[in-house]
Amino acid sequence: QVLEGRPQDLTGLHVVVSAGGTREYLDPVRFLGNRSSGRQGYALAEAAVARGARVTVVAANVALPDPAGAEIVRVVSTEDLREQMHLAAADADAVVMAAAPADFRPAEFVEAKIKKTADGVAPDIHLVENPDILLELVGARTSKRPVIVGFAAETGDARASVIEHARAKLARKGCDLLVVNDVSAGKVFGQDESEAVILGADQTVEEISYGPKIRLAHAIWDAVVQRLD
Ligand code: CTP
Ligand code: CA
Repeated sequence: QVLEGRPQDLTGLHVVVSAGGTREYLDPVRFLGNRSSGRQGYALAEAAVARGARVTVVAANVALPDPAGAEIVRVVSTEDLREQMHLAAADADAVVMAAAPADFRPAEFVEAKIKKTADGVAPDIHLVENPDILLELVGARTSKRPVIVGFAAETGDARASVIEHARAKLARKGCDLLVVNDVSAGKVFGQDESEAVILGADQTVEEISYGPKIRLAHAIWDAVVQRLD
């Protein structure tokens, strides 16, 4: 159906959106995770359905109602997300990595719950780096499809501004678009609204003012559609 009078400009296309935050378990009851709620990913799915796409959502630990009309694939860890993204991206016209994968995972999973010891000494948990899924998806591409979009939650620091960090990240990742959120003041996470800058590998800069995540979602699809030639 046509929502908000949007064009059906994704009709006949397969789009894949990752959403949420991955969890890396250290024992049966504990994990390393992050604050991503999945709201932006689900808004992207809802917007793409409204524009006529076939939509696959790879959802990592999202506690929200499923977006109507999309296929949902549930995952837990970054490794699961990686596997499902490669499968779904194989025939995709566009891929948006809105999920927040944990950058590190415990080097080992302990089958029995880690117990406190009488001497009060805390365990050292050794971490190893997870694969970079976005980088892999870009590397696996053999033509201009799929158009690939990354997200970046950045804070400015003494070395560079939010946008400078984001430009460097876009170049490093090699994707077509990077959606940048400034998270300096605890903004964005778990909210229904956000503001963002959409950077293009073709040097475009589009500022999306503070507003509903569904509006940002449509702006992202607008930018994707422009690059689907
Ligand atoms: N990403 C990914 N796989 C990872 C980490 C990140 O695919 N293991 C994707 C995210 O989904 C996002 C983009 O890469 O679309 C940027 O994520 P971000 O965490 O900002 O980038 P990192 O390379 O992990 O850099 P940082 O050290 O700033 O966290
Ligand atoms: Ca990261």
